[in-house]
Amino acid sequence: MRSFHDTLTLPNGVVLKNRLAIAPLTVCLSDPHGYVTPQEVDYYASRTGEVGLYITGCSYIQPNGRGWLGEEAIYDDSFIPGLSKMASAIKRNGTKAIMQIFHAGRMAEEDAIFGYDLVSAGDVAAPLKGYRTPRPLTDAEIAEVIANFKGAAVRAMKAGFDGVEIHGANNYLIHQFFSPHSNNRTDCWGGSLENRAAFPLAVADAVLDAVREMGAKDFIVGYRLSPREQWTPGIALGDTLYLVDKLASLKLDYLHISQSHITSTVTEPEYCGKPILAHIDETVRGRLPIISVGNIQTRSDVQQALEHSDIAAVGGSALIDPNWAAKLLNGHDEAIRTKLAPEDREILKISPLAFKILSSRAPERIL
Ligand SMILES: Cc1cc2nc3c(=O)[nH]c(=O)nc-3n(C[C@H](O)[C@H](O)[C@H](O)COP(=O)(O)O)c2cc1C
Repeated sequence: MRSFHDTLTLPNGVVLKNRLAIAPLTVCLSDPHGYVTPQEVDYYASRTGEVGLYITGCSYIQPNGRGWLGEEAIYDDSFIPGLSKMASAIKRNGTKAIMQIFHAGRMAEEDAIFGYDLVSAGDVAAPLKGYRTPRPLTDAEIAEVIANFKGAAVRAMKAGFDGVEIHGANNYLIHQFFSPHSNNRTDCWGGSLENRAAFPLAVADAVLDAVREMGAKDFIVGYRLSPREQWTPGIALGDTLYLVDKLASLKLDYLHISQSHITSTVTEPEYCGKPILAHIDETVRGRLPIISVGNIQTRSDVQQALEHSDIAAVGGSALIDPNWAAKLLNGHDEAIRTKLAPEDREILKISPLAFKILSSRAPERIL
């Protein structure tokens, strides 16, 4: 049986000191222009040093890709000095620092992209209260977005990160191209499953090209996806397994499966009876490591996650208890805090969004 204490060698040869990760958590601490602040560096420094892999909250790869005010930007070299401080803060005691890169697409909040168009794969609004109808990206703009993901990876390397995670999950732009709900295009980027997968794969190829061109053999490239979607039409597990198979044949270093619960299942008859993670594990067939995430709070949750994945990532638990991983690794399980307490008002200051989500710890949520 896999133990979270075990090291893990990634496909590019980099060794992770254990199989625990901090999941990406947007904390909205960057300044209104997307520059990293000292408070943000302190936040990252306060939770690092124990896990093998620390994935940052998502950084936006172009101005109209920001989801919320307070996210960090990575679309220009002027952001590198701040990002560099963030990378140095995270890289303590051998923890690898991974910068998540993304474009929010139709999920961008109005004030986050003030003055820019809301764009997506198609012209379908997210079926959630308050979301506006986006404009479909043109062919030229699609090429530009792909190039900007590549540029973001180069900047992450220059800033000293150990790798990047391509954010293909949670309803953001890459996910929007793969989803039959948001992608109603009739050109080569939409329609069939193959066409819907073309944009995610093109972004992954571009980022891997950046690594090759920079000769950065040790640079880690991961890809995060959501295996299903709650809307109709929506991403079905069969669609996801197709994409997983394609991604697993690229030179990626891990796949990160974003779920609200590690044991989630689907009702589609051909896939019921086993957790989604087990189906993904079978499709990957050991070609690259899998990171699982979703309501991991205790040692037994971690052990359960590692039945069908190689690394267990924690989001909310690490926000609530900055020493969550240290306590687990040192066997002080009884001291772990997994529910918000009155003294956690500090999280409200770091991120009102985080506080709201953690207050409910809802069984199903979008993030
Ligand atoms: C406040 C907050 C911010 C988040 N920000 C991101 C993000 O920037 N990128 C991302 O891929 N997921 C993000 N997530 C999702 C988490 O990475 C994780 O998948 C989710 O919280 C489920 O894991 P958990 O049950 O351990 O919290 C966020 C979640 C929360 C609660």
